[in-house]
Amino acid sequence: MSFKGRNIISTKDFSRDELLHILDVTAHFKHSKTGYVGSGVHRSQLLSGKQIAILMFEPSTRTQFSFGSAAISQGASHVYCYEQIGTLDQNIMQFHAMGNDAIVLRHRDNFSAQRAVDTVASLVDLVNAPHIPILNAGDSTNEHPTQSLLDLYTIREEKGTIDGLKIALIGDLKNGRTVHSLAYALAQFNVEVYFVSSQELQMPQDRLTELTAMGLKHHLVPIGELRKIMRRVDVGYVTRIQKERFAEDEYAAVKGSYCIDAKMMRSTKNGFLLLHPGPIVDEISRDVYHDPNDIKVAYWRQIKNGLHVREALFSLVLGALQ
Ligand code: NCD
Repeated sequence: MSFKGRNIISTKDFSRDELLHILDVTAHFKHSKTGYVGSGVHRSQLLSGKQIAILMFEPSTRTQFSFGSAAISQGASHVYCYEQIGTLDQNIMQFHAMGNDAIVLRHRDNFSAQRAVDTVASLVDLVNAPHIPILNAGDSTNEHPTQSLLDLYTIREEKGTIDGLKIALIGDLKNGRTVHSLAYALAQFNVEVYFVSSQELQMPQDRLTELTAMGLKHHLVPIGELRKIMRRVDVGYVTRIQKERFAEDEYAAVKGSYCIDAKMMRSTKNGFLLLHPGPIVDEISRDVYHDPNDIKVAYWRQIKNGLHVREALFSLVLGALQ
């Protein structure tokens, strides 16, 4: 299995074995006591001499800085860019011409990461430029594969398995890109997924059709049954309503329509895990996610895992590790 040069655009692009391999490499980064993670080179030198461009054309905190920290921790240099000036294609060509070895892209348009891949492919074809991988850090409402890999990692590390779990994806399943990528990844496992949302925020029909074809066992659950479903599942993955995708009055109509509170958390099974990609707005009450003793709240641990998954991805796609 080789990841060298691979683009990270959608979780649909990866087989179950490939997903598990990424999680294994992530575990090496997280747990290595010696600093060696599967090659004769210390982790701090794995990407020495490489440069990575991190283009964040939509706001980001965790994703942006965990990609940056993952570059630093392996000896790569990196540059950030926040504003698209000119077309996306021009931006990709410019950062390619500056000698970057990979480009991380967050963008307001669906399928922009794929467009960046196509731009690089045309440079390779037309001017014999080197191929460089693109890593999708969120393309509008479409996908956010690296977030889902860290979610999957957290589930596997904390539950010891992914197969056999009952997992509720809760909230804005229509506009939330993290739940799209996570659902595609979960389709590679033997899980039962509950899509819990209001009618307006339900997982789009075309995605449901795809997920069914991929073999994902799933149920649609109205948001009114959130309390009931929280008692039954092993993992609850909550997302905020994606305000930036709504007109103001439309957002006002759905704002605050669900919240995980302490009473709900007390009713969950032993070993239950609450995940959230961040940022939390009002869909988990503050006393729940601020309780340092509540081991069921995995939110803070997800953030740490996000760094390690991005370390693993950089070292794999840049060919430093197999
Ligand atoms: C998510 C995103 O940007 O899609 N956040 C993140 O990357 N950690 C989720 C969100 O913004 O709700």
